[in-house]
Formats: sequence, C-alpha cells, structure tokens
Amino acid sequence: MNRSERALGRAEACANIALAKYWGKSEKGDNLTAVPSLSLTLDALRTRTEVEFVNDGALDRAFMQGEEVSGRALSRVTDLLDRIRARGAEKRRAIVTSYNNFPTAAGLASSASGFAALSLAAARAAALALTPGQLSSEARKSSASAARSLFGGFVVLEREADEATPLFPPDHWDVAMVVAVVASGPKPIGSTGGMLHTKETSPYYHPWEQNAPAIFLKVREGVVRRDFEMVAEAMEHSTRLMHATMITSLPPVLYLKGATVELMHEVAARRKGGHHVAYTMDAGPNVKVLTTLAEVEATRDFLASFQGVERVIVCRPGPDASPLSTDGPLLSAPRTDHLPGGGFEAADSSQA
Ligand code: PMV
Repeated sequence: MNRSERALGRAEACANIALAKYWGKSEKGDNLTAVPSLSLTLDALRTRTEVEFVNDGALDRAFMQGEEVSGRALSRVTDLLDRIRARGAEKRRAIVTSYNNFPTAAGLASSASGFAALSLAAARAAALALTPGQLSSEARKSSASAARSLFGGFVVLEREADEATPLFPPDHWDVAMVVAVVASGPKPIGSTGGMLHTKETSPYYHPWEQNAPAIFLKVREGVVRRDFEMVAEAMEHSTRLMHATMITSLPPVLYLKGATVELMHEVAARRKGGHHVAYTMDAGPNVKVLTTLAEVEATRDFLASFQGVERVIVCRPGPDASPLSTDGPLLSAPRTDHLPGGGFEAADSSQA
C-alpha cells in the first residue's frame, strides 16, 4: 500500500499560556470550564503528532517521545480517538506517535498542544473534514486548555463554551512570553485532579469562581488596547488568585517552588523600575514572563542569569494548529499551511 492509501494524518500544534486563567469545571459536566479564559499561543513550544489507523490490533497504541505509554495516558488518547471514530466511518485501532520539543508535564501546557495536535491528526487520518471549531471542541473534551491551541495568537474560551474562539491573530501585538524553567520533572498532581480537589476542599474556590470573570474582562480589554500595564496587572492577579485556591486546598496543591516566588518578587521589582515584564504560572513551578519584543533579549538575559533557572525558552505569538505533510519522517515534515514552521529543527536529535 502506498502512502496516499494509508489512513495516516499528521499535525502540529503550539502550546498556549493563559493570560486569564481557568481553574475548575462547570457543574454541567462534559469537561466544560467554570470560568472564562484568554490565552496566547506560543510559537516555540510545539507538539507533532501522527495518527495511523491500522488493520491489526485490538487496542490503540501510543508512543510519546519514543516511549510507549499505558494507563491513564493511553486511555486519554483512546477517548479522543473514540470520539473521532464515532464521527465517521473509520473504526480501526490507531498507532499514535507524538513528540514535544519541550519538557512534558512540567506546567508547560504539553496537554494543550498534545490534544490539539492529536485531534487534527486523527481527523486527517480518518479523512474527516472537521472545522477548527469542531476540532477545538474535541480537544476541549480531553483537556480544556487544548481547545485554545487549535488557534494562533490571542484566543478566548468562554465559560462553559464548547469551543474556543480566536480573538486576534499572532501579529496583533508585539509581545513575547519568556519561559523560565525552574524544574523540568513531573508535577505532583495533574491539573484535572488538582482542580477537583481544589473545588472540594478550598474555602477560596468560590471566591475564585466569582472573581475570575471580571479579571478575564480586564485582560481582554488590555489585549484589545495593547495596554501592557493593564494586562500585566490583571494577568498577575489571575495567577495569584488561582494559586491561592490551590494552596488553600487540604492537603495543599502547591506547585510553586522557592525560585518561583523569588522570581515573582524580581519581576515585580523590574516592572516598578520601568521594564515591561509580568509573571504568570500554571499548574507547575515554571515562571512565564510576558514582555515586549523590544525587551525580549534583556528579559531573556535577566531570567537566564537568575539562580534556580535551568533553562529559558523565548516564545513569540504562535500560529494555528496545522496539518503536516505525510511524506518523509514526522520530525522533518513541513507544515502544509505555508506558515513558518521550525522548532523541531532545534529539538533533541535523539528524538528522530
Ligand atoms: O485544561 P487543563 O487540564 O490543561 O488545565 C489547564 C489549567 C491552567 O493551565 C492552570 C490554566 C489555563 O487556563 O490554562
């Protein structure tokens, strides 16, 4: 069988970082979110995924960073594939191969880029022409933040919305997000479990749910106006409120490390000193610093020289998720939408 007859699909999606956070699921179920969120898609953090439906095999198989996965990691992949299979005629099991060009499960949103890339690659392999909104909905049911990674630039996921919606393309605003990796190991608890636990045990969960929509509106207004100070204040507030609900759970969900908190102080002091910098953290200890393109190098150097920072990754606003050519190896396959690719050329060559 030649390549064109194979039920093969490939896609690439970028991670995203929420400027206005979501944390908590809606009472309506179906993995709908309890609060609205707004994200920036990050061009340097990418997942590439291949899905092939095959004749043999009773179970789906998935390989991430070259290692076969099982248990919950595999069942999350199968759940998404089942929904794609239910939409069309493809009923066979699949082999999934996926690579990130950044540390997995360290609060760098690997589930966001991962499920966005998986939904697009699986739809292509199943020969289904789903809209970006339909793909966003499928990705959301696996990981709500993944709904936003189907789109480039600035993206909104409204409270209880089925799919994310693009707000502005990547060139709307000359900003960058500089990621300071303070620990690249696996996190103590995943976001899904952490959210449930927070909702059940933190006295601050309901105040968070009540305050998050107004903070989201401030972030959105700041992005619309390209007002750095407005976004900086609201984004940091969103981050601290979200982490306050986590930390006040019983037992606590404490992702922040000493270096994280020291960086919060340093970034705040730098902004007071006139620099365009603002911090945010997700379900992990790494600090992502929003800055302007004019200050990106200074921000990178400041973070790289900070004690406790292992690695710095500079991200600019990234593109939509995109199909990849199915010719040649996955890691060197060009994107098929003519948007700038890249990232994987710089990835660890041992992945190939
Ligand atoms: O949807 P999940 O399970 O990837 O959770 C994401 C939660 C945060 O990253 C902490 C916030 C957000 O809005 O992305």
